[in-house]
Amino acid sequence: MPTIYLNGQYLPRESATLSIDDRGFIFGDGVYEVTRVVNGVLFESSRHLARLGRGLADMRLHPEESLADIEAISNRLVQENGLQQGEAIVYLQITRGAAPRTHHFPPAGTRCTVFLSAKAITPPHAERAVGVKVVTYPDIRWSRCDIKTVNLIPAVLAKQHAMDHGVFESIFVRESAITEGSHTNCFGVIDGELRTYPASNLILGGVTRDVTIEVAHELGIPFSDRPFHIQDLPRLQEFFLTGTTTDVMPVVEIDGKAVGNGRPGTVTQALYDGVARRLYAATPAVR
Ligand SMILES: Cc1ncc(COP(=O)(O)O)c(C=O)c1O
Repeated sequence: MPTIYLNGQYLPRESATLSIDDRGFIFGDGVYEVTRVVNGVLFESSRHLARLGRGLADMRLHPEESLADIEAISNRLVQENGLQQGEAIVYLQITRGAAPRTHHFPPAGTRCTVFLSAKAITPPHAERAVGVKVVTYPDIRWSRCDIKTVNLIPAVLAKQHAMDHGVFESIFVRESAITEGSHTNCFGVIDGELRTYPASNLILGGVTRDVTIEVAHELGIPFSDRPFHIQDLPRLQEFFLTGTTTDVMPVVEIDGKAVGNGRPGTVTQALYDGVARRLYAATPAVR
């Protein structure tokens, strides 16, 4: 049985319990992170922790565990769950804790709920080989999409919309601009230039997005963080998604229309290869 961490204790997953007054349950009042693990090593841990730190500060959450503690707990869960080999993720969630329901913050001294778990995953390499399809969906989210809050209703509805259409992902459209996917960032190649929605309050600044942009710079691929719009879609040469469990994923169809020549593109492949080199740097056997 998997071992999880909850509020200072390492427990078998099935014996972990939470209060029905937990504000994560009542209000979605919390933040989360998902960190990739390859052969027991947390990928880009410091970027995930930095984003978590910003989210905690913006949400005015003050868990007892420091960011260094969180990293140590993550590493211990990887070991205790036998994930030293192969592909895995660590999931983390911190809420404002359990207290009688009030919209305002609970009394001082209420302990934040801190939960971490780790499990093996299978990256979507089969889908990557052929590319995936996506559909557009209105971006009905709030104006702090940069906080990785557990309040994910628009993402849940958008991803279900994708499932209902038998495709991999929904991509959000805000005032005609493609912002990002339900749990991924979006990149397009137009006129030979790689473009993605600028880092702002209207998208989650993905760790994989940042790594992909760094790789683009290394490879000398022209890049601009300018948004592209619905009306630009027919001019797309390539389109792809990035995310912690998705890596770099070519998209070959948007709303039933082919992207470029309808096959994964060469820029996308080069960027995946660059990201994979970092992911699997010390551990080529996993790939
Ligand atoms: C809305 C949204 N955008 C982008 C991403 C990708 O971020 P990362 O690369 O850090 O996984 C996620 C990940 O969950 C997400 O929820």
